[in-house]
Amino acid sequence: MQYDSAILGIETSCDETAAAVVRSGEAMLSNVVYSQIAAHQPYGGVVPEVASREHLKAIVGVVRQALSDAKQTYESIDAIAVTHGPGLAGALLVGISYAKALAFALDKPLIAVNHLEGHIHAVLLEERQKGNHELEFPILALVVSGGHTHLYLARRLAHPSGESWSYENIGRTRDDAAGEAFDKVAKLLALGYPGGPMVDKLSKHGNPKAFKFAGSQLKHRDRNEKSSGASDRPRFDFSYSGMKTAILRHVETHNLKPSIEDRRNALSLVSQPKLEDYLGHCDHATLDLVASFQRSLVDDLVGKTLEAAEAYNVRSLFVTGGVAANNELRDRFEQDGSRAGLKVMFPSRPLSTDNAAMIAAAAYPKFLAKDFATMDFSAEAGLVLR
Ligand code: KG4
Ligand code: ZN
Repeated sequence: MQYDSAILGIETSCDETAAAVVRSGEAMLSNVVYSQIAAHQPYGGVVPEVASREHLKAIVGVVRQALSDAKQTYESIDAIAVTHGPGLAGALLVGISYAKALAFALDKPLIAVNHLEGHIHAVLLEERQKGNHELEFPILALVVSGGHTHLYLARRLAHPSGESWSYENIGRTRDDAAGEAFDKVAKLLALGYPGGPMVDKLSKHGNPKAFKFAGSQLKHRDRNEKSSGASDRPRFDFSYSGMKTAILRHVETHNLKPSIEDRRNALSLVSQPKLEDYLGHCDHATLDLVASFQRSLVDDLVGKTLEAAEAYNVRSLFVTGGVAANNELRDRFEQDGSRAGLKVMFPSRPLSTDNAAMIAAAAYPKFLAKDFATMDFSAEAGLVLR
């Protein structure tokens, strides 16, 4: 087995242009993330075409920076890994085209990585760094971000050339992803974009028990729907569009629209509004609403995930993706998870949101197994993780 290989990872699936060099799936030599938030902020959400153009502008500099931070050169790296999907097709194409060109020019292997597998390997990368090489399998992984709310059972298969991983999906959102719900509710309440981080901060200032919003109201029949192919495995699906609609109705029935518009107008004059600016323009009714929304969503995510852990009798739980940066979510998973006898692991906050170190880390087992991409692979917006 080769231990000392440096893999350059490239990630462009959404609104972050990222490159990183990771040695042997464990040592993060560099991790550069160029966020496009400023370019999308005026639109209140990610505009796919703007994302592609921004990636094209940033990618050369970001990759150079990642190599120089890692004290590596184009020649010294052993392989190039790139996000294959899921994500925005035009955004993915920028990273893939660039990675293909590099691999061709340098005559180095190219490795295609599923973005969701990357989020799972962000946890593995840091657990290895902490010296934790003993994990109980299968691992239950909740990938919870702006585009995804997925539950997987992750298994590792050891073989002479290293290891391979397989993933069984046992739950997903039927409509909005959890991060999308955070962002849409924040947009409705004029709390900026992306809304998750600000909802997280503001929630500490409101009463989370003021209101209760029902989580996924999946019918019994749906909840027990069999996963395709697998015999009678229970599923744990999520749904957040109902909660979003309930918040909208709450805003209307409690006549919050005038105060929302006042806040929107006042904060449009502040170039980069901070927590204090939002607090100065949020009354108690709004702070209670924000805290109650977050509590309701966290209750649903934690409750369903722990139900799944019990049903599948797992001992290790990974919680990863942008929403895993949320403070209340982390606290609740830690408390309720340890009560349920689970070892709960998260990535550090910089590795919770999109980055390329997770792509380089997920590529390492594929590098050892010589599982290389051919030059005719392309972006797959709806790529499934198996
Ligand atoms: O993983 P990520 O960077 O990109 C996707 O693959 O989608 O996740 C971005 C999402 C956004 O919806 C953002 O609002 C949410 O993660 N997010 C948070 C927090 N930080 C980021 N949501 C709640 N609390 C946070 N602290
Ligand atoms: Zn992501």
